[in-house]
Amino acid sequence: MSKRLYIETVGCQMNVLDSELVAAELLDAGYELVGSAREADTVLFNTCSVRQHAEDKIYSALGRLKHVKDRHPQNIIGVIGCMAQKDQQMIFRRAPHVDLVVGPGQLGRIAALLERVAAGDGPQMEVSPDRNSADRAAVERSFARFEPLRTAKVRPVPHQAMVRIMFGCDKFCAYCIVPSVRGPEQSRPAEQIETEVRRLAEQGCLEVTLLGQTVNSYRDRSSGRTIRLADLLYRLQEVEGLRRVKFVTNHPRQMTTELLEAVRDLPKVSPYLHVPAQSGSNRVLRRMKRGYTAEAYRKMLAHIRQTVPQAAITSDFIVGFCGETEDDFRQTVDLVCGARFKNSFIFKYSPRPKTRAAELYDDDVPHDVKRRRNNELLAIQNAISLEDNQPLVGRTVEILVEGPSKAARRRGAAGEPTQLVGRTTCDRIVVFDGPKHLTGKILQVMIEKVDVFTLFGCP
Ligand code: SAH
Ligand code: SF4
Ligand code: F3S
Repeated sequence: MSKRLYIETVGCQMNVLDSELVAAELLDAGYELVGSAREADTVLFNTCSVRQHAEDKIYSALGRLKHVKDRHPQNIIGVIGCMAQKDQQMIFRRAPHVDLVVGPGQLGRIAALLERVAAGDGPQMEVSPDRNSADRAAVERSFARFEPLRTAKVRPVPHQAMVRIMFGCDKFCAYCIVPSVRGPEQSRPAEQIETEVRRLAEQGCLEVTLLGQTVNSYRDRSSGRTIRLADLLYRLQEVEGLRRVKFVTNHPRQMTTELLEAVRDLPKVSPYLHVPAQSGSNRVLRRMKRGYTAEAYRKMLAHIRQTVPQAAITSDFIVGFCGETEDDFRQTVDLVCGARFKNSFIFKYSPRPKTRAAELYDDDVPHDVKRRRNNELLAIQNAISLEDNQPLVGRTVEILVEGPSKAARRRGAAGEPTQLVGRTTCDRIVVFDGPKHLTGKILQVMIEKVDVFTLFGCP
């Protein structure tokens, strides 16, 4: 049987990385990657549970595959990642044509599980034990390290790579499903991370993005000494060939002076900081269990601006959280107006089963109010982003070229030059015309025009 694999990925960068690792593992096991579910005989959905909408999308995509499975019963359909861990057996009940359910901690077992399905052993499921039902060490072990050898071939952009430095999360923000689907917070040993980054750099990788749900709480004690994120950055600065290091996502409570000074002092570390605020109202922040006040968040912003004046700071917000009044929302608007984030991701609150918020509070902000607040906040943020992009016109920025832009890929433009896209160290997107072979190069580009999300340049 041929093994044509398609992986559909939703969710955060952790998932994008996991899909890359699964692809690497399965290519090794003799699979070939194809570009659509239609051409594949094995389809994996790498799923997200952070909001209801992300789950609905997967269940409807699964529904659409039902008739294909009826016609080709030997095809294999798998659900992997966060929703697999959250919904478990329920996935087989809602979509009986699914063959495989694998949680984020068991991704290293996929090749073997697929073989069992193909051998006729019936549906397979492997997930971690529930965080409340087993002891912490057992749950930690179940989120097994899965970092197979990867090659530039499976990366969307060979010159960039994501590197996981932490698993899981222990913050338990009241609204959030992540700690229960991604397990306890665990830091990978710095030694391993350094080795992985060196290997990536040897393969020509110029930029790494270090990933953790709260990346700035990184703490490796495996060698007897405590190694924090700032220390790790100093070590990665020394990696030959590597040009840029980014890291996401930061928690506002752990933006330490040492970390900010490392960002300021290390030339390879990008002055780009994603530090979600979630709300500007103390009452809401308390109910969210975020562990800081709006004043403390503002103080932290001032600390960043003072230490790393050129930093681009980005944030996430949830609007319409349980009990959020118009006055609470105005305080969020105030924060956004004053903070001048490079951009903000704004989400409508979506209750998640078994989280503290879902258990304690009513989801009492009507949907149209959530939508209005979302649109209003987005419009304010967009106006700020545009205003702050304006001074870049006429300036030269350094970008890492990621390849043809989405528009150019859609047009299938074969001729040169084509429209290329790159990113600045501050994570700004730059679009310009040039030959494809510039992909993976670091270049200076002069900015001619800007809009909210994009800078337009000429090399
Ligand atoms: N670990 C990161 C990312 C968590 S998920 C962090 O701590 O910031 C990404 C974003 O999704 C969060 O920052 C939050 O803004 C949003 N989010 C999480 N749970 C949500 C929920 N139940 N409803 C709406 N948005 C949510
Ligand atoms: Fe979720 Fe909070 Fe952990 Fe982020 S810090 S993953 S929002 S629980
Ligand atoms: Fe979603 Fe899981 Fe990431 S729930 S946001 S894919 S950690």
